Amino acid sequence: MTSLTNRRSSASATDQLPAPPGPRLPLTLQTILFATQRHRLLPVLHRRYGPVLKLRLFPERNVVSISDPADIRAVFSGSATVFHAGEGNQVLKPVMGAHSVLTTDEGEHRRIRKLLMPPFHGAALRGYRSMIAEIAEDEVAGWPTGTAFRSHESMQRLTFEVILRVVFGVSHGARVDELREALSGVIAISALDIFGWHSERLQRLGRWRRNAAMLRRADELIYAEIADRRRAGDLADRTDVLSRLLAVDEDGDTLTDAELRDQLITLLLAGHETTATALAWALHELAHSPATLAKAVQAARDGEDRYLEAVIKEAMRLRPVIYEVARRTTEPVEIRGFEVAAGTTVMPAIGVVQSSPDHHEAPETFRPERFLDGSATTNTWLPFGGGVRRCLGAGFSLLEAVEVLRVVLRRHRIEPDRARRERVKPRNITFAPARGARLIVTPN
Ligand code: HEM
Repeated sequence: MTSLTNRRSSASATDQLPAPPGPRLPLTLQTILFATQRHRLLPVLHRRYGPVLKLRLFPERNVVSISDPADIRAVFSGSATVFHAGEGNQVLKPVMGAHSVLTTDEGEHRRIRKLLMPPFHGAALRGYRSMIAEIAEDEVAGWPTGTAFRSHESMQRLTFEVILRVVFGVSHGARVDELREALSGVIAISALDIFGWHSERLQRLGRWRRNAAMLRRADELIYAEIADRRRAGDLADRTDVLSRLLAVDEDGDTLTDAELRDQLITLLLAGHETTATALAWALHELAHSPATLAKAVQAARDGEDRYLEAVIKEAMRLRPVIYEVARRTTEPVEIRGFEVAAGTTVMPAIGVVQSSPDHHEAPETFRPERFLDGSATTNTWLPFGGGVRRCLGAGFSLLEAVEVLRVVLRRHRIEPDRARRERVKPRNITFAPARGARLIVTPN
């Protein structure tokens, strides 16, 4: 049972409800603490103020964080007209564009999502397996033996090659090489760089100017690829996302070049850093848990994918790559007896739910078995968000991660370079291992 009500249509719309409680710290301080420490701060604040709390953050200002799984579920399944995820994701607009599946809402979002879904579902997914394994073999074969290296960087290279192949159907050639270069610059942005995306003035200066130039170059390359592909005679035989999007769908719907550009860059960016980070955490946790590692190695040798999938799911629970998602309200709503005004950013706090002892036994322990014995439920495992905005690549990234883990564990024995686990480092949107998930490996 949840207490989420649309205030405009509720009989009690005229009653005065209290605003959610929350810290009274100045906006600037709250913003800095949120940007750098929310994985520590939010669990503490939710214990203190309860499952619905108000924050003041720049630039959204009115933010309500929610941590009760029933309320989160109600928000995820709430009306897409009332809960705007696209507006909640506005910070991504300067890079992903105004037409991106991530930054649009309602009718426009529905239309684009429908066009993007086929390559990420069912039979299409299974078709990617051997390509992923091949790319993983190539990457892992180049790992140095006996010396520490950052496995996160290796996973970034690998997942980028995979997503390039899925999106464009190719991962070699001069244009793709240049695109790889330009996009890796766009991805490696810090919180400071993000300010630059929102200010034309800053974009005339130093690092922001370089970032803007890189994005412009990436755009030129993507538009050139779209133009070439429009002229290709074999679209019907191709299975990559770009070719599928260029072919007319059953309702005769097609995307303009600008709409296509936004989806391609969204998939390239959303689809690779997230999976790379999840894999880096999984390798890191395995390296620090010898008994679980031994079971995972056996599973990799036996082709036992269920255990490997449980490993990656548990890594995503314990080390959420994305700590919270956002929905901007277009109308006042009531959550658990609190008034949430129109224009508020409601944030389901994925990381708080996944680390709470109320929902997971011994939550700080890395124990993949909880995904095999039924103790982890879908309501309390939310790394991909939910509802009509649930991650489009959820199935794909799980499949990719299992393929990669199998290749790594068959080929190498992995160890951490230090006994202590790495800290969590918030990197703009994702939460990564602070030292790059360093490993020492020896060939099997
Ligand atoms: C471990 C890997 C990944 C994680 C943790 C992750 C997480 C997320 C989250 C939390 C959201 C927001 C959901 C919401 O607002 O409720 C999202 C959306 C999205 N993700 Fe992922 N993602 C991953 C991999 C991928 C991959 C591989 C792709 C593409 C191939 C992808 C494409 C997208 C897209 C297009 C959306 C927007 C969906 C929409 O708004 O309708 N993601 N993802």
